[in-house]
Amino acid sequence: MFYTFAARRQITPAPSFTMDLKSQINKEKLPRHIAIIMDGNGRWAKQQGLPRVEGHRNGVVAVREASEAAAELGVEYLTLYAFSTENWARPETEVNALMALLVETIQNEIKTLNDNNIRLRAIGDIENMPPHTREALQWAINETAKNSGMNLVLALNYSARWELVEAARKLARQAASGLLDPQSINDEVFANALSTTGMPDPELLIRTSGEKRISNFLLWQIAYGELCFLPIMWPEFRKEHLYQAIIDYQHRERRFGKTSEQL
Ligand code: FPP
Repeated sequence: MFYTFAARRQITPAPSFTMDLKSQINKEKLPRHIAIIMDGNGRWAKQQGLPRVEGHRNGVVAVREASEAAAELGVEYLTLYAFSTENWARPETEVNALMALLVETIQNEIKTLNDNNIRLRAIGDIENMPPHTREALQWAINETAKNSGMNLVLALNYSARWELVEAARKLARQAASGLLDPQSINDEVFANALSTTGMPDPELLIRTSGEKRISNFLLWQIAYGELCFLPIMWPEFRKEHLYQAIIDYQHRERRFGKTSEQL
């Protein structure tokens, strides 16, 4: 909830601020796919004098805000970087807490996902997730499979290099068995070998925490994506931040290698 400076003292929300931003969004130019690198949970917790896991817990509130805002606007795909292949190197207690939080969140949110017609999907090396997490995830994916609204895609045990190597292996196997002519491999064939097959590329990639890095996320898919780096920690992310990022995106000129005059 946002408050104006004057209203904060009276603890009165100022919905007009939210409405103002939302009404500035051009519905005709919405990104079909938004991807988010949810960063800064640990630093937010440290700033509050809390254990890191509290940062992740509060990050779930931000996940809800982002998903609700994107679904309400009519965004078709929202992909969240929830756990990278590199995150296994974190302390065991944090990894276990993150896995438990994922299962808990998936179970708690299933009704909301169904009520809002949201389909849950996952990209990443799901086969090598802990069995309990994998089963909870698969259950939720099945439970929401018929929903036709927004696709909420969780990147779990994901890294772009893993995905690219997997795609190369898959195409090499097909070529070696004579099912694929190596000369026929083009952008489209390669994209179809990725875990995002069938999804549009994200037009907008948001990263919180002020870090300006891609961190092994959707490297192929963001070739022409617009990047938005927000100077807030992920647990602070609210609907207004998504609106602001979309407005910013809509004011950019996307040239795809052409000149302004050609557009
Ligand atoms: C990055 O912050 C965040 C993560 C590695 C995990 C994100 C997980 C959640 C928001 C909770 C559950 C998510 C879902 C989709 C149910 P960081 O820990 O790297 O922060 P730091 O860089 O400040 O240490």
